[in-house]
Formats: sequence, C-alpha cells, structure tokens
Amino acid sequence: MARIIDAPLTTGEGWGCDPRAVHGQWGALDAAARRGLHYTPEVQAETAPLYEKVRHVIPAIEWPAYAPLISAINKIKKQKNAVILAHNYMTSEIFHCVGDFRGDSLQLAREAAETDADVIVQAGVHFMAETSKILAPEKTVLIPDMRAGCSLAASITGADVRLIKQKFPGVPVVTYVNTSADVKAESDVTCTSSNAAAVVEWAARAWNTDRVILIPDEYLAKNVAAQTGVKIIAWKGRCEVHERFTPEDIAELRAAHPGVVVLAHPECPPEVMAAADFAGSTAALQDYVVEKRPGKVVLLTECSMSDNVAAAAPDVDFIRPCNLCPHMKRISLEAIYDALVEMQHEVLIPEDVRVRAKAAIQAMLDLPKEKPRAFETGLAPVEVELV
Ligand code: 13P
Ligand code: SF4
Repeated sequence: MARIIDAPLTTGEGWGCDPRAVHGQWGALDAAARRGLHYTPEVQAETAPLYEKVRHVIPAIEWPAYAPLISAINKIKKQKNAVILAHNYMTSEIFHCVGDFRGDSLQLAREAAETDADVIVQAGVHFMAETSKILAPEKTVLIPDMRAGCSLAASITGADVRLIKQKFPGVPVVTYVNTSADVKAESDVTCTSSNAAAVVEWAARAWNTDRVILIPDEYLAKNVAAQTGVKIIAWKGRCEVHERFTPEDIAELRAAHPGVVVLAHPECPPEVMAAADFAGSTAALQDYVVEKRPGKVVLLTECSMSDNVAAAAPDVDFIRPCNLCPHMKRISLEAIYDALVEMQHEVLIPEDVRVRAKAAIQAMLDLPKEKPRAFETGLAPVEVELV
C-alpha cells in the first residue's frame, strides 16, 4: 500500500501515510534548537519514560528533536497551572507526552468543565477550544494554531440555523459539537458521535415528536436515522476526512488482509458503515481495540488514531490506511510551546452567545452518563430530509 512521505498539510490523494509525515513534519525538526532548547543529558533522562510510550512510532534518531520541547512544555504547564486537553487525533508526541487529559470530543468537554487549572491548552481544533471556553469561562483557553478549523464547523452558520428553525417550527434542534459557538447558541441540545443516537432519541421523547433536526453532518444524520427510526432533518455538511472512505476500500482491505476487523467512525458515509464490522466515536473505537484485541484491525478514521491506540494494544496488528485531518495536524509541539510561553491565541466568545451555547451543551451533559454508544453496522440506508 502506498505510503506518503513528507505529506503536505492536506488530506491529499489516496491513502496511506508515513509516521514521519504524520507526526514529524520533517521541516520542524530543528524547532527546539531555534527556541534555545537542547537535548541535554538531563532532558534525556527526564523524558526517557515518555519515549517508551511512543517508540513504536518515533524513530530513536528523531527523539532529540522532540524531547527538549516536551520537557519545556511540561515544566511551563506546572508554572502556569495549565493543562493540555489532547484529542485522539493528536500526533503521538503530543498525545502521550504532553497531554494531561486524552479522549474524544465528549470526554474532553467533560474535563474542561471539571478541571481546576487556570489555563487550558486545547490540542485539537477550534470548535473544541470554544467548547472548553463555553464550559469554563473563567479560565484562559488557548488554541496553539487559530487556523485549526473543521470542514463540518465551516459548513453552517448561526444564521443558517435560524432559517432552519423558521422552516421547521417546534422541531428540536440537535447540533453536533463540531460547530461554532454561534451555531450551538441557536440549538436546543448538542451531541457528539459518542451519544448522537441517545440524544436524538431523548429529543424526540422530550419534544413529543417523531422528527428531529440533526445538523450539520449529513452522514452522521443518515447513520443516526438508521439506528433510531427517528425521522431526521439534516444539513449537507461533510467531514473532509471521513467522506473519502468508500465500501470499495473495505473490499480491497478484506481481500488484501484476510480476517482484518474493520472499524469506522460515524462521520463515514452510510455505505461504509454498512460494510464495517464495528462503528463508533474515537473513544468507542479505542475501547473496542483495547477490550477485544482483534488480531488485525483497520481504523477508518484519522491517521494518528492507530498510532495512539497501538500504545495500549501492542499485540494488535494495525493495517494503516487512513486520511490526515489537515486541521488537527496544525497542532505541533512548537505551536503548543509558543502558545504557553506567549499566552497567545486565546479563544474568546461574546458572553450572550456563550450563555446560550452553554445551555445546549449542558442539556447534553445532564443526560445520564453512559459508555460511548456503538453504531450498529450492516444496516440498510435510511433517507433523511436535506434542508
Ligand atoms: P470524536 O467525538 O469521535 O472524537 O470525533 C471528533 C471528530 O472531529 C471526528 O472527526
Ligand atoms: Fe473536522 Fe473531520 Fe477534522 Fe474531525 S476529522 S476535525 S470532523 S475535518
């Protein structure tokens, strides 16, 4: 299978990725030295236990480039009472070596609401940092690179949601967390891929209706419709990473790797979900691999997921076709270091928007806490009403 080396910050063509393209970004290997940070014997000794967690993806020859930044970031975090919330798509040197809390969007939102740190650095994308600020307004929330967006969040505005509500009065609006604060502010309740089906079922019951608006991911909406039997009104947003997987990819993988277990994220098209063996949020995919220990597995999701899960399941053989999220990959160790040193790229939200967005997120957090819910695979496609 083709491997891309020195991949640019784009999802590019085809699939396959080299760990160096994913986490190293060769050009940045002198980033520590440019900041006056060096691989001293002290740094080497202090970071040696961390290297054990990432040695399966980072060649030993590259470690001296990362270790000084990791050591410096961990020291500054203590000085500034800061925590780093690291999404499952972060590269391994971030996820395992500087992340304080790791997980999917839902887990990170819960951590943001509960932490007693003064500063939150969101190692993820902008909407996740906004969620943290919405839940923890008294804290300073930093995003290491303001350009770390999301194709789903960019697909819809608050004004769009107001128009949808005018067209479907009285129908509850369930909004995926992959959206801006403005969009959440217009919504009744948010959901993540860990709880989308449960939230939609709850909204249908609470509003005593058989129709629910679920925006902005068309594929998530179709996948939830297939799980729940609730009639869904949807928006035509797509995740630029997951929309690229196809059932033909799965057929090729099964032919090339007999016995491989295929896991998919619910932002994938319904035909991909139908052909997969298991589907769920990034946390659900991680739990599946760690608990079931399949001999051979493929994760149809962002590239860094396999690298990160592999640390907890070293006996599992990961087949690694995947697609890079160019937004997630904007977050690097040097960007985190600079954000913490300069206290730069603070996420701010107008208070009236924040209060209304918080109500929608809180409605989700107040629902009974359950394990990330898996999506049933092999289901027939169900149509949704596209606005
Ligand atoms: P999770 O909620 O499953 O972590 O997904 C977030 C995301 O952006 C997936 O593309
Ligand atoms: Fe957005 Fe897709 Fe990237 Fe997730 S993987 S942040 S949904 S573009």
